[in-house]
Amino acid sequence: MPDYTNTSEPVIQVRSVIKSFGDQRVLDGIDLDVMPGEIMVVMGGSGCGKSTLLRHMIGSIVPDSGSVKLFGREITTLSEQEMNEIRKKFGILFQSGALINSLTVGENVALPLREHTHLDEKTIEIMIKIKLELVSLRIHADKMPAQLSGGMKKRAGLARAIALDPQILFYDEPSAGLDPVTSAQIDQLIIDLTRKLHVTSVVVTHEMDSAFSIADRMCMLDKGKVLKIGMRQEFETLRDTPAENLTSDQDKLIRQFLRGDADGPLSRRKADSDYEEDLLRV
Ligand SMILES: Nc1ncnc2c1ncn2[C@@H]1O[C@H](COP(=O)(O)OP(=O)(O)OP(=O)(O)O)[C@@H](O)[C@H]1O
Ligand SMILES: [Mg+2]
Repeated sequence: MPDYTNTSEPVIQVRSVIKSFGDQRVLDGIDLDVMPGEIMVVMGGSGCGKSTLLRHMIGSIVPDSGSVKLFGREITTLSEQEMNEIRKKFGILFQSGALINSLTVGENVALPLREHTHLDEKTIEIMIKIKLELVSLRIHADKMPAQLSGGMKKRAGLARAIALDPQILFYDEPSAGLDPVTSAQIDQLIIDLTRKLHVTSVVVTHEMDSAFSIADRMCMLDKGKVLKIGMRQEFETLRDTPAENLTSDQDKLIRQFLRGDADGPLSRRKADSDYEEDLLRV
């Protein structure tokens, strides 16, 4: 468990980020610090802006206004070339694993090493073995992606994400589409890699079991705003408090989301807005 009491600077600092697509404001003034060595889980309902926030952190989207700093450096104003240099310092696990289907698992892991380093072939071979061993896929190095299960694809994607010894690992819905056991294995792998490799991890998910098992801290988004950031234990307490003991509507809403309850302020709000939309359509 990382120590937040020290005075270290955040690895990622998001300030007042606003982003609209057309006339839809997707991020509406986001502030978030991610500290060295922690696992920060960003959660929230479908369409609340989680992936969009992640894409701002990896420099693939530029905000309309606001600031995003990685390692203390503003990335929103960097050229593509400067951004590519920073990209070497982080790894990303996309939802599908995003492997190249025409290459073997080993070749997929080798790709970033061939592209971004001057290591000789023998060293690259050794690196591939080390990375695949970390995700328990060493004996599958010669398989093609089509021969892998969903969970194995995620692990292969993870081996590729750690190929360049990144300082930050980003995950978008790492356990989506996996059975509960495979999903729990990926969660454990995220924890192990974060601790073993001393990286900082940002995990976007709406799977609450997974969120609670891996998070050091959690950030809950709703309609493009941060509803709450806190230690995992604070969210656990909120989840386990009886609704009648909560006074703030916001806490009740967060509690419903954390518990996955069918009834509560979240569903009433959804029903109300559907009704309004329905009336406006007439
Ligand atoms: N490139 C884009 N162009 C237009 N609209 C976009 C774009 N990217 C995202 N959006 C919209 O922004 C909103 C938030 O999308 P985002 O993918 O960030 O949600 P999310 O929280 O990751 O949802 P999910 O849990 O379903 O993955 C959605 O309404 C989506 O349609
Ligand atoms: Mg998403």
